[in-house]
Amino acid sequence: MSVDLLLGLQWGDEGKGKIVDVLTRDYDIIARFQGGPNAGHTLEFDGIKHVLHTIPSGIFHPKAVNVVGNGVVIDPVIFRKELDKLQGFPIDIQKSLLISRKAHLILPTHRLLDAASEASKGKAKIGSTLKGIGPAYMDKTGRNGLRVGDLELPDWKDRYRALADKHEAMIHFYDVDIQYDLRELEAEFLAAVEDLQKLTFIDSEEYLYQALKSGKKILAEGAQGSMLDIDFGTYPFVTSSNTTAAGACTGLGIAPGAISEVFGIFKAYTTRVGSGPFPTELFDENGETMGRVGREFGATTGRPRRCGWLDLVALKYAVRINGVTRLMMMKADVLSGFETLKVCTAYNYKGKQIQHLPYTIEAEHLTPVYAEMPGWKKDLTRLSKASELPENLNRYIAFLEKELQTPITLVSVGPDRTQTIRRDQSGS
Ligand code: GDP
Ligand code: IMO
Ligand code: MG
Repeated sequence: MSVDLLLGLQWGDEGKGKIVDVLTRDYDIIARFQGGPNAGHTLEFDGIKHVLHTIPSGIFHPKAVNVVGNGVVIDPVIFRKELDKLQGFPIDIQKSLLISRKAHLILPTHRLLDAASEASKGKAKIGSTLKGIGPAYMDKTGRNGLRVGDLELPDWKDRYRALADKHEAMIHFYDVDIQYDLRELEAEFLAAVEDLQKLTFIDSEEYLYQALKSGKKILAEGAQGSMLDIDFGTYPFVTSSNTTAAGACTGLGIAPGAISEVFGIFKAYTTRVGSGPFPTELFDENGETMGRVGREFGATTGRPRRCGWLDLVALKYAVRINGVTRLMMMKADVLSGFETLKVCTAYNYKGKQIQHLPYTIEAEHLTPVYAEMPGWKKDLTRLSKASELPENLNRYIAFLEKELQTPITLVSVGPDRTQTIRRDQSGS
């Protein structure tokens, strides 16, 4: 029985989409376990760039089955747009894409509630992607939600109506100025639901159990990152699901004992999109260079990502909470050309130096303590073997491996599938 997990360890956008696509050939099933269209997972191959939001990143591999798990929230309108973009690729959607009946639906009014909630918060806003994620998960845990399986019941439209009416009353409660035409949004939603109903719905926990029993290999794909986890992230500036390893168990119905490897993905530096604390954030030329060279703009919202040095205190915390067995370092190429690299190894917090993540990490409470390392000049983007990596990059990697007590088995040197260096395979 074998399920491997792939998770982002920072504030999202680590490069999960790219790596899931790279790893898919080793798996039979790719299963997304949480999040929704707030995610933007980018993959590039053959000169084409794709951004997926809800559909798992194994979709371009003809042999892989892609499962949207019960822990995911689906917006039929965005889902339809994603499917449209797959047209022209040789993908048998009925067979390659299976959707859990227990996944919850995002209604147009969830999106409006998200907007109203954010507007009411003013400067304290979360910086949500405004995709209705928070309100949809609130209805899930509040036991009011509409699920994919409900779409097979004759009275689903009545349930929809009751929920949407309740939401409308709630929007007025916020007393903010939100412009919308609900009738237009509903027409779009109902048309998209009709398309969703043509897809294959499954009892995904049963499907995955049988698949495991028959020896199939499953890769569980996470969305967002550990620092956005509803419990362990920088609350309240987080998303509304468990992005950490435990979320794969509840989001797919997989038992903890079935999990083998936990792949933890991180960027060689740090980014964050949206509001919230970010101890190593840079407001200088270095941060600007990372953003420019790394093309750090949100794949879902297009917002510029905030950039900073690698934060080992936060990364250690994420490695521990997830039980990461192998690390994958992304965007190493973006650091080429920096004279000196800094890595945060501790925080100065209330007059003391600490190496754990305290309850609050706002800038007014702490300052990062940095270790410095010499950078490298070499362009990494054309390298394909670990033996070609510059010496100072190898030192950077060795330092991180020692601090994190976990091997870095893959180094990514560009957005394309091929720009991937395995450090765990012979011949490299
Ligand atoms: P995800 O949400 O974790 O899947 O990551 P995103 O797709 O939101 O953001 C990662 C961005 O970095 C995308 O634009 C990728 O194409 C790009 N990317 C991934 N790996 C690398 C890499 O090693 N180097 C560079 N330069 N870009 C990368
Ligand atoms: P992927 O899977 C980066 C951030 C938002 C906001 C906060 C809450 O591509 O890594 P939400 O819409 O969930 O209510 O927003 O979380 N956020 C992400 N940041 N990558 C993501 O997904 C994100 N999904 C949500 O910017 O700060
Ligand atoms: Mg992303």
